[in-house]
Amino acid sequence: MTKNILITGAKGQLGSELEVLYAQYPEFNFIPTDVDTLDLTQKEAVVKIVQDKKIDYIVNCAAYTAVDKAEDDVELCYKINRDAVKNLAEAAKGKARIIHVSTDYVFDGRATAPYKETDTTHPQSVYGKSKREGEEALLAICPESIIIRTAWLYSIYGNNFVKTMLRLGKERPELNVVYDQKGTPTYAADLAQAILSIIVYTEKEKTFPSGVYHYSNEGITTWFDFTEKIFQLAGITGCTVHPIPTDQYPTKATRPMYSVLDKTKIKETFGIIVPEWELSLKKCINLL
Ligand SMILES: NC(=O)c1ccc[n+]([C@@H]2O[C@H](COP(=O)([O-])OP(=O)(O)OC[C@H]3O[C@@H](n4cnc5c(N)ncnc54)[C@H](OP(=O)(O)O)[C@@H]3O)[C@@H](O)[C@H]2O)c1
Repeated sequence: MTKNILITGAKGQLGSELEVLYAQYPEFNFIPTDVDTLDLTQKEAVVKIVQDKKIDYIVNCAAYTAVDKAEDDVELCYKINRDAVKNLAEAAKGKARIIHVSTDYVFDGRATAPYKETDTTHPQSVYGKSKREGEEALLAICPESIIIRTAWLYSIYGNNFVKTMLRLGKERPELNVVYDQKGTPTYAADLAQAILSIIVYTEKEKTFPSGVYHYSNEGITTWFDFTEKIFQLAGITGCTVHPIPTDQYPTKATRPMYSVLDKTKIKETFGIIVPEWELSLKKCINLL
């Protein structure tokens, strides 16, 4: 029987990349929503759609993602990243399976080896704390959910580091970019594919292996090296990139200095193949 999949935050980066894939999965009936059609902070509306549309899966791509703005906009950030997730969980309990997306910002960045799902969380920003509380709220109500933590997300859609650097690289002769924060970019198209693979796996194997998973692309880089690669792939030669330390680029929200994620669990559980970050970046830049 066709499965009904509710996509929230469908107009964001990840939600838009999922939409590109809908046609490849005719066995699923996708129901894309965003704040204009389903405001997740309105519990009755969330309960109603899950019931009326007989939702089998919810992929929650909605979030408050303005990391620096969140430091001042605390109430709204928690409303979306924690309270709305609670609404989803209460609406889904006993009815639908939830795949929820979270972040590397739940960690403090003091690790020196890739973060595993079992590592202690210690968020340093309002955004990170609100996302961690969203994870906790979800697991308290629907412990049988899947949470995928990702990092450094970019896409041809929405606003992100890749698109900002492409613009600045064409506008400016020089740019300063931090060289001492390490992590791994994630092409939202790859994450979207991984999420749908999990649903396909669940339908085929008749099991939903709940829990927390980590997903980014493969490899490790810094924002500085990421920028150099973006410019190289896009053929931008008129902008010199200078590496600077984080303390010379103050931001309202504290970023983790190290947020490489260990992806062993998601790869082994679902047989997902994770592309190298440079290969995925090339694909994205070719589309821009
Ligand atoms: N971006 C990153 O670098 C990054 C890194 C790690 C993890 N993540 C996580 O990955 C997920 C997807 O991120 P993304 O970059 O695709 O986010 P995004 O582009 O900011 O999209 C989020 C979407 O959610 C919508 N939304 C906001 N409030 C809502 C509400 N009350 N009800 C329904 N929808 C609402 C937004 O609408 P408006 O635009 O109108 O507000 C937007 O369309 C999020 O969980 C995020 O925390 C992102």
